[in-house]
Amino acid sequence: MAGRIPQSFIDDLLARVDIIDVIDSHVPLRKAGKNHQALCPFHDEKTPSFTVSQDKQFYHCFGCGAGGTVISFIMEYNGLGFVEAIEDLAGRYGLEIPREAGYQPESKHYNELYELLEQAAQFYRGQLQGHDSRAIEYLKKRGISGSVIEDYEIGYAPPGWKNLVNALGKSAEARTRLAEAGMIKSGDTEGFYDHFRDRIMFPIRDQRGRIIGFGGRVLDKGTPKYLNSPETPVFHKGRELYGLYQARQKNKQPERLYIVEGYMDVIALAQYGINNAVATLGTAATENHLEKLFRVASQLIFCFDGDEAGKKAAWRALEITVPQLREGRQALFSFMPEGDDPDSFIRQYGAERFLSDENTVPLSDFLLNSIKSRTGTSNREARANFLDLILPFLAKIPASGLRQLLLGEVAEIAQTDTSGIHELLQDIQSGAAPRPGRSRTWPPRERTGDISAIVSYILNRPELAMLVEEPAELSGPAVPGIDFLTELITLVHTNPEITCAGILEHWRGSRYEQRLNQLASASGLPAEEDFDAEHQFIDMVDRLKAAKTRQSVERITRAKPSELTEEAKAELRRHYTKERRNK
Ligand code: UTP
Ligand code: MN
Repeated sequence: MAGRIPQSFIDDLLARVDIIDVIDSHVPLRKAGKNHQALCPFHDEKTPSFTVSQDKQFYHCFGCGAGGTVISFIMEYNGLGFVEAIEDLAGRYGLEIPREAGYQPESKHYNELYELLEQAAQFYRGQLQGHDSRAIEYLKKRGISGSVIEDYEIGYAPPGWKNLVNALGKSAEARTRLAEAGMIKSGDTEGFYDHFRDRIMFPIRDQRGRIIGFGGRVLDKGTPKYLNSPETPVFHKGRELYGLYQARQKNKQPERLYIVEGYMDVIALAQYGINNAVATLGTAATENHLEKLFRVASQLIFCFDGDEAGKKAAWRALEITVPQLREGRQALFSFMPEGDDPDSFIRQYGAERFLSDENTVPLSDFLLNSIKSRTGTSNREARANFLDLILPFLAKIPASGLRQLLLGEVAEIAQTDTSGIHELLQDIQSGAAPRPGRSRTWPPRERTGDISAIVSYILNRPELAMLVEEPAELSGPAVPGIDFLTELITLVHTNPEITCAGILEHWRGSRYEQRLNQLASASGLPAEEDFDAEHQFIDMVDRLKAAKTRQSVERITRAKPSELTEEAKAELRRHYTKERRNK
């Protein structure tokens, strides 16, 4: 997705936007020395540890570890995706977002779609009030209160083929737009007809509060039970969550979110005061959903039916959640008694029992128990089997306390020691047996201390990179991470005005993202003027060049003289002349 907005636009945007202004408009900042400070909006605290640097265009909280660029801030604070955050910032500064070839521009007419969908929702709400009372009767029968009908703007699409067409499709152009918004369809002879007929209507709002589509339930028996808007330019099932907007209206940063299966579950929970529930739209939860939800709350509770199908669905959810379990994030599963869903459960047993964790298990328990019950653990073969099945999951959990604890527990169950398991895990992670020195991940555990340090210096003061005159001279596979460094230095050469934030945005979504953020957050590096950063920087780069030469010399000297190319001989000569000179 990130690729669709040209990088040059992101560079431009960062050049115009000042992180201080943007954050200050959400969280009042106070100047403190070189930086600005505030109480962290991402966790509870009494003394400010949230720090914003104007130089680096970067924020960091020493309390909870949150940190990033102005784009990251808008994403985290408003729970938006990357593209939405760019739109938000661009809108604020009146900038038009160019799109790379092949992308449908999000032009003005999107606003027309939102506008129409809003009008459709109004129309359906009016019909709920005005129409014969079948719809109201139905909602009453299900015990839905007037106030949740209000909060969730529930409406009614009356029976008949042309109600919406006639109400909102007065011109040919309006009808085209209505069709584009998925509200009406074109028939063969009679022209357009309504997509939703004789259904209870649930408008679906995106996180910015815009109506993007609807779900509609039949009143009695009938198929399909629920009909959703089709995919449209503004409605994507795999990305949206019913109830998230309403949940955030009540609490911007809820501690936990419940993920339930249906519209009615969200509605019932809200009616019982549980306002932090969301539902996928008839699909299983996707990675995209989880990213969105983890940005809003650090604890997610999946609610599933207690039957086999529910267990299966839980397992699927587990598989996509595991890789996202960064430090501080937590996922739990709550299994309803057989035959119940959250809607029927809470109406029968009340909120207190729903909230109690009698049926809730942490993801890690569910993982261990599911696999244990599949393989057994009573003999060595069973335990080996257990290890084979569970280790791929452990390997996917980002390094964290949870992973550490699980590792210990798995070792205990398998009756082996943690170091053996550690090795197995590393094999899995490297795809096979580890190949020392050929790791393509940056930075590998050892030997790149210098590269990390050089990168840190550049993040703090990008202009230092200009001191390396020929970045290409560094490049080569000799030292892991050096290709990355070369690319970084080249980036600064081509964008001399780039800030720390600009650099981070350049690698958003890549495997370097996390590490770069860590380095940018680490405090203390050449922030102070009295610090002789330039010399230290040059020293480090020289050491790196020397290490690189040393390695290629070693490689050449290991070869038989008869195998040496002319080029290699020349390099050796250069090397030894330099050595002599240095003595
Ligand atoms: P359920 O069949 O569990 O319905 O579908 P529900 O939410 O409990 O609804 P009630 O209580 O019978 O009214 C769960 C979700 O799956 C999607 C809908 O999003 C629904 O809320 N679904 C279901 C569909 O999209 N189409 C269908 O035909 C059925
Ligand atoms: Mn139900």
